[in-house]
Amino acid sequence: MARIGQDIEHAKELLLQSKLVAIPTETVYGLGGNALDEIALARIFAVKNRPRFDPLILHIASYHEVKNIAKNFPDNAIALTKRFWPGALTLILPRKDHIPDLVTSGLNTVAVRVPDHPLTLDLLKSLDFPLAAPSANPFGYISPTTVKHVNDQLGNNIPYILDGGKCKIGIESTIISFTDDEPRVLRLGGISLEKIQSIVGIVKLPDDLSSQPKSPGMMKSHYAPSKDLIFGNIGNQLNQLAKSRVGILSFQKVYSEVPENQQFVLSPAGDIEEAARKLFSALRSLDKLDVDFILAEKFPDHGLGKAINDRLKKASARKVKK
Ligand code: TXA
Ligand code: MG
Repeated sequence: MARIGQDIEHAKELLLQSKLVAIPTETVYGLGGNALDEIALARIFAVKNRPRFDPLILHIASYHEVKNIAKNFPDNAIALTKRFWPGALTLILPRKDHIPDLVTSGLNTVAVRVPDHPLTLDLLKSLDFPLAAPSANPFGYISPTTVKHVNDQLGNNIPYILDGGKCKIGIESTIISFTDDEPRVLRLGGISLEKIQSIVGIVKLPDDLSSQPKSPGMMKSHYAPSKDLIFGNIGNQLNQLAKSRVGILSFQKVYSEVPENQQFVLSPAGDIEEAARKLFSALRSLDKLDVDFILAEKFPDHGLGKAINDRLKKASARKVKK
């Protein structure tokens, strides 16, 4: 199993040897490696079993470093970083030529963000290269929000996990592309659409119908538990399925027909941020239950609820045919 600790010097030593370190962020844990080192990058794809067509996000300590990575940095992108960095916002910008193709999957753009976690920021400040860090989970599975999540799945394949506690947002960063004339959201995430639009005005939304996704995170099935997940009206489903064989993910409501230990109510008080924080842990717990199906409610369609619904929709896309 991986060593677990808070030793930034040790993390740095490993990274300098092309090894990987799991890093805490405010969104989810990342699987970090030197973004300018092809051996480290190849390891990231191998450990996650991630296809090389899915590019990586670069993590940097401050927005001053964007100029080392991107060819230009439009004014409205700068405005967003001033408001939200460090934070759950990833920008897609035209790349500089020295960024390895393994980072960008050969695209002429690069993804970059400044994460908001004190340990990881200290680590980044001590390095003279950016960290490439996808979420620290096997490709396609639920992202990790605790050290245990990382260790359970990747612990045998990485030497060290920096222990930064539970992730305080719990859902991945919002990705905004600045490669078209106008900004476009490629992935809904930890900074709500409303907050983004309060800075840059109306932005274009992910185009679900696109067969050539601009961001592979837009693939139809992703963020998925191994069990079949049905997303939508739970009441309707309960009429058709054996109630003892389902697990439930809900916002506030308890369903009296189903045993209580098979239900995960994310925020009885109706706090959508609390729900986001608990979402991935609850999905992992549901995945371990002895049930045939996970039924997930549609969450309120505002704030982080939009990102929660996006993840649940993708989690439901894999196997279940309705
Ligand atoms: O919150 C987060 O963003 C976390 C933490 C660790 O920072 N990271 C994360 O990384 O979620 P990952 O690799 O699991 O998801 C990154 C997404 C992928 O869907 C990838 O396709 C997209 O970002 N992406 C990366 N570079 C891109 C690019 N140049 N153009 C379009 N999409 C890009
Ligand atoms: Mg991921």
